[in-house]
Amino acid sequence: MTRVRFISADGGTTVEVEGKPGTRLLDLAQANDQPLEGTCEGAMACSTCHVVIAAADFATLPKASAEEEDMLDFAWGVTRTSRLACQIWLSESLASLEVRMPGGSVDMR
Ligand code: FES
Repeated sequence: MTRVRFISADGGTTVEVEGKPGTRLLDLAQANDQPLEGTCEGAMACSTCHVVIAAADFATLPKASAEEEDMLDFAWGVTRTSRLACQIWLSESLASLEVRMPGGSVDMR
């Protein structure tokens, strides 16, 4: 299980949940009322699933694909540790993950 901490854009609200290996981060976020639209349902065509990963956790994730990087270029408030939540799957080796909501989103479709 991976312990995932979702933090609101203003930092004021924190939700901690556990996710099974193989769970997609976007699905876990939506199941826990996080404000990620995920409009394209993982087709890397919208960037509304953009999240900011804590720096220490970011380094432990598999690298983003070129397609993901391209889509992130269009995301609102992108940072050096930004990812698309539809492209992150929890795994046995991932003990914890801290995920912050961006302050807004851009639907690229
Ligand atoms: S859900 Fe559209 S890019 Fe992730």
